[in-house]
Amino acid sequence: MILGLVGSARVWGNSEIVVREALLGAQEEGAKIEMLRLTDLSIEPCNGCLRCAIREEPCPLDDDMEWFLAQVEGADALILAAPTYLFGPAAITKLLLDRLLMLTPRFGEEQIRAGAAIAVSGRRDWRGVTQPFLNGLVMGLGFRLVDSLYVHRPGPGEVLLDDEVMARIHKLGRRVARGKKGELPEGNICPRCYGDFFVLEGGEATCPLCGLEAAIELVDGQVRLSFDLRVEPLPWSYAWQKEHVEEWIRPTLPRFLAHRKEIKARRKRYRAMGEVWIEVPS
Ligand SMILES: Cc1cc2nc3c(=O)[nH]c(=O)nc-3n(C[C@H](O)[C@H](O)[C@H](O)COP(=O)(O)O)c2cc1C
Repeated sequence: MILGLVGSARVWGNSEIVVREALLGAQEEGAKIEMLRLTDLSIEPCNGCLRCAIREEPCPLDDDMEWFLAQVEGADALILAAPTYLFGPAAITKLLLDRLLMLTPRFGEEQIRAGAAIAVSGRRDWRGVTQPFLNGLVMGLGFRLVDSLYVHRPGPGEVLLDDEVMARIHKLGRRVARGKKGELPEGNICPRCYGDFFVLEGGEATCPLCGLEAAIELVDGQVRLSFDLRVEPLPWSYAWQKEHVEEWIRPTLPRFLAHRKEIKARRKRYRAMGEVWIEVPS
C-alpha cells in the first residue's frame, strides 16, 4: 500500500490534488493506495524530555503520534505534499518531524521503501525552506527519497490548470510505486536529500539537512556546486540517525549531570528578577 500524506487542511487544495495525482500514477503501476490528512491528527509539540532517545522509553505525550507511526509503518511507500506557510512547511509537518526521535527504539533495517515529497507554495520566489523539511520528514520516517518537487500555485486546486506540472507529478507517483530514483532537477540541488538551500562557510557550501559538502565553482558567471558524494554513512539512514543518538545525544546526559550543580548555582542570579511569567488563561 502506498500512503499519501496531505499536509493541508484545505479540502481540494493543491496539496490534496497533487497527492491524488501521484497516487493515480502509482495505481497505474498496480499499487494499492490510501490517504491521510495530517491536519486531522492531534499532535502535541515535543517537550524535549528525550526519554525516547536516551532511555528508549515510550513518549509520555498522549496524542495521535503512535497511531500515525503505525500507519506509516504499514505503508510500502510514501508520498507527502504540504503547503508553504510563511516561508516554511505548514506547522503540522514540523510538529511530526520534531517527534521523530520516537523512532529511536525502532531503528531497524535500512530504508528500502520509496518516498517522495511535493512542496506547494503560492510564489516561487517565496518558496522558503519547505521542500528540504518535507524531504527530511519523508527520510526521517524511514523512506528512501526517490523524487522531490516544487509546485507554485496559490488558489485551491489551481495546480490542475498546469498540465505539464500535473504530468510530472503523475510520473513521480509511478516512480514511487516502482521504487526507482529519478534524475535530479537542474540547478544546485543536494543530490542526497534534494534540498536547495546551503550554508556558505569557508569556501564551501554545506547542505544543512544532511551535511553534504560541495565546492563552490563559478562557471560562465554562474555559481555551480560540486558535491562530495563519498560521505558515509548515508545521511538520514537509520545508521546515520542511530549514530547521532548513540554518539551525540546520549553522551549529553552524563555531561549535563556532571555540571548540574554548577548550572544550578549559576541560575541564582535570576532570582532577583522576581516573578516574571505571565499566566496564560486556560
Ligand atoms: C497562512 C498562509 C501563509 C502562506 N505563506 C506563503 C509563503 O510564505 N510563501 C508562498 O509562496 N506561499 C505562501 N502561502 C500560499 C500557499 O502556500 C499556497 O496557497 C498553497 O497553494 C496552499 O496549498 P494548499 O492548497 O494545499 O493548502 C501561504 C498561505 C497561507 C494560508
